[in-house]
Amino acid sequence: MNVERTKVAIVGAGPSGLLLGRLLERHGIENVIIENRSREYCESRIRAGILEQVTRDALTEAGVADRLEREGMVHGGIYLNFNGQRHHIPMDELTGGRCVTVYGQSEIVKDLFAAREATGAPIVFEAEDVSLDGIDNDEPVVRYRLGGVEHEVHADYIAGCDGFHGISRDAMPDGYQQLYLREYPFAWLGIMASVAPSTDELIYAQHPNGFALHSMRSASVSRLYIQVDPNDDIANWSDARIWEQLHIRMATDGWTLHEGPVTEKSILPMRSFVATPMRYRSLFLAGDAAHIVPPAGAKGLNLAAADVIVLAHALADRYSSGSETGLDEYSDRCLRRIWRAQHFSWWMTQMLHTNPSEDAYGQQLQRSQLEYVCSSTAAAKSLAENYVGLAIEQAVSA
Ligand code: FAD
Ligand code: DHB
Repeated sequence: MNVERTKVAIVGAGPSGLLLGRLLERHGIENVIIENRSREYCESRIRAGILEQVTRDALTEAGVADRLEREGMVHGGIYLNFNGQRHHIPMDELTGGRCVTVYGQSEIVKDLFAAREATGAPIVFEAEDVSLDGIDNDEPVVRYRLGGVEHEVHADYIAGCDGFHGISRDAMPDGYQQLYLREYPFAWLGIMASVAPSTDELIYAQHPNGFALHSMRSASVSRLYIQVDPNDDIANWSDARIWEQLHIRMATDGWTLHEGPVTEKSILPMRSFVATPMRYRSLFLAGDAAHIVPPAGAKGLNLAAADVIVLAHALADRYSSGSETGLDEYSDRCLRRIWRAQHFSWWMTQMLHTNPSEDAYGQQLQRSQLEYVCSSTAAAKSLAENYVGLAIEQAVSA
């Protein structure tokens, strides 16, 4: 048995666990990250790609934004495509100059791993049978097995950053949390393609065949999505069939979608979920462990970052001044922002997807909503301010 002690034990090396670990390091707070997958697996997991300014600033503050500064693509707007027409939403103009940055989540994860490797701060990969104990008597411990040896990490606090399928949420007592869930009758099929993007800014398209999105990762890599049935099988989707649907759903006069070799494709489930409160005694949940949004609002990664920014500051206060106010307020502060993003993500989802069971009346409402957003500055401004992301108001005291 190997026993060690730290201040904060972090379960999960996704964006929330890695960024929390890094921010705590910068505050001089020792921490251990315990991840059940390999580093290579974590680095190659393709997910989100849009960073709000708050997320970008946090990565800069954490000293891990050098490559992001060089390779990230700043976007001041998006296009909405419907009825064969393309409309530009100039988010920067509508929000007093705020923008988003296109930079892959897998690149953020690589940058954070490299930074942690450089400082030598402890991180465990491929931990087996990770479990939490001692939360009820405030002697929290994370247990796991590595190479046949049992390990215990005793900590002041545990941060459950282990995603929707992790074990941290279930370590809270039965019935302690209120769970909010909404399922959708669609999923996204995402591809990565080795071809220059056919657009300067992202295209979100609504079409009777279903939603489509043209995003990108670099000047030579495109990221594209189409709405599919949640029970569909990726084996049903040849590259040719995917491109055909992308052409149809994003079609607009005078514009050509360029095809290229597909290097990755998968079907992503979609749901809205919130578990409250996000704290039980010395256990704090952050990111997907506590909440999930459907991806049309590009909020999942950004919410994960916002949670750990608030948590890192609260822990820094606790260790510098002894004040537990920030920790006590953590859940409520995060949840205000989370519910705004939940609503925005749900709103974008219902505006842009084709619901197979929607009646003709609902279809007309959807069309009216799209026309309103594309013709009213007030409506466009609401979309823009949510998309670029709200400030973490007063959430950070330092
Ligand atoms: P995660 O990234 O899930 O990280 C959790 C980590 O914990 C993982 O490394 C996992 O291996 C580890 N872990 C799990 N269980 C254990 C355990 N028992 N012990 C130890 N470690 C454990 N958002 C968007 O905005 N746009 C998108 O296009 C988009 N696409 C997505 C596609 C998929 C398939 C998924 C699942 C999510 C997607 N998201 C997207 C959401 C976004 O990627 C997440 O919100 C973000 O990854 C949350 O970060 P996190 O660190 O909280 O959780
Ligand atoms: C990407 C993902 C999203 O969910 C989104 O709304 C925009 C872009 C992406 O992966 O690039």
